[in-house]
Amino acid sequence: MAFSLGKILQGLSGGDESVIGIDIGSSSIKIVQLRASRGVAVLETYGEISLGPYAKQEIGKMVKLSPEQTAEAIKDLMREANVTARSAGVSIPFSSSLVSVLVLPDVDKESLKRIVPIEARKYIPVPITEVTIDWFVIPREEGEQSAFDQIQKEVAKGPKQQEVLLVAIQNSTLRGYQTLTAAAGVNVSFYEIEIFSAIRSVVDHGVAPILIVDIGAATTKIYVVERGVVRLTHLTTIGSQHMTEVLARSMGWEFDKAERIKRERGLVSSTAFSSTENEQIKTALLSTLSRIFSEVNRVLLSYGQRYNKNVAHVVLTGGGASLPGLSGVAKTSLNVEARIANPFAHTEAPAFLDTVLRDIGPGFAVAIGLALRKLRRE
Ligand SMILES: Nc1ncnc2c1ncn2[C@@H]1O[C@H](COP(=O)(O)OP(=O)(O)OP(=O)(O)O)[C@@H](O)[C@H]1O
Ligand SMILES: [Mg+2]
Repeated sequence: MAFSLGKILQGLSGGDESVIGIDIGSSSIKIVQLRASRGVAVLETYGEISLGPYAKQEIGKMVKLSPEQTAEAIKDLMREANVTARSAGVSIPFSSSLVSVLVLPDVDKESLKRIVPIEARKYIPVPITEVTIDWFVIPREEGEQSAFDQIQKEVAKGPKQQEVLLVAIQNSTLRGYQTLTAAAGVNVSFYEIEIFSAIRSVVDHGVAPILIVDIGAATTKIYVVERGVVRLTHLTTIGSQHMTEVLARSMGWEFDKAERIKRERGLVSSTAFSSTENEQIKTALLSTLSRIFSEVNRVLLSYGQRYNKNVAHVVLTGGGASLPGLSGVAKTSLNVEARIANPFAHTEAPAFLDTVLRDIGPGFAVAIGLALRKLRRE
């Protein structure tokens, strides 16, 4: 159920200063243990465990588990991956949170403290006392022709405005996470909405706007990041599980066979199949992908219209981005250049692991980002 190279990496294992990042996804949990050494993040161990089997479902399927079952899975994963640290950052699914950019009058910080909770009510469908909110003023860009000035000109010819990034999580969601992490014996330093974690391990330094696509099992998260700040977000309910389902239906296979073939050969033709079968497999996988990519192109367009500038490139992440042959299709289907994320590049690991870490890397973006934040704050 789990894989890890914990034993191989164990020789590097540190002591108290090691930290972990835990990404509880809809289909699997990912964990990464890092230690800071001479200013670099040393990879001590990592692992993944599929959640399907905890609900008598296949590997790769999204499942809803109780906090106790999830805690059990975390404990199993920590044991199998030889995780020794207990100090963690844990992600909250984007789908359980609200992330919004508010356009507000250009008032001072004190007035904002009053205005933001009032404005937030317009976006949050439950009583404000039942959510934890946080917010942050998006820094203005230098120079006259900034994107922000463009919006000002076009949208608000009146008083000056400012943008505020609002995030909210329901308290009941946070309580659920507290219960399950306590049951798993993990000391949580912070919870973070998954998209903010992934940015840390996916985006290299630079000011140009980048669009990140996280293809998970249940959902695909699409968001634009500029100067390290989220500017636009979009959630679609099509993920990589949909791809397996379409493939299974079209080939008359069971889910587990379709899941295996998808992961092993993806869009790359194989001699194990006839040329008709190869085409059929490709067509099935592409039908889901084209829906995801057309959503991405829509977000690219709406970002361009809103801020009057273009996204520099797209980065594909999430387990679904490990699909063999994906980058070629991304190149032809997307309106801008695309690359596959390589989050382990932000860590130091033995060279012989390079290929495997590159292959499985996209699925670990959130877990690595969490561990990196934990390392930097200590
Ligand atoms: N090599 C691969 N090729 C294609 N798809 C893959 C590969 N490895 C994993 N996947 C798919 O990626 C999905 C899991 O990705 P990931 O672990 O990012 O999702 P998750 O975090 O559990 O889900 P979500 O983000 O939706 O909550 C599964 O649908 C799985 O089939
Ligand atoms: Mg995920």
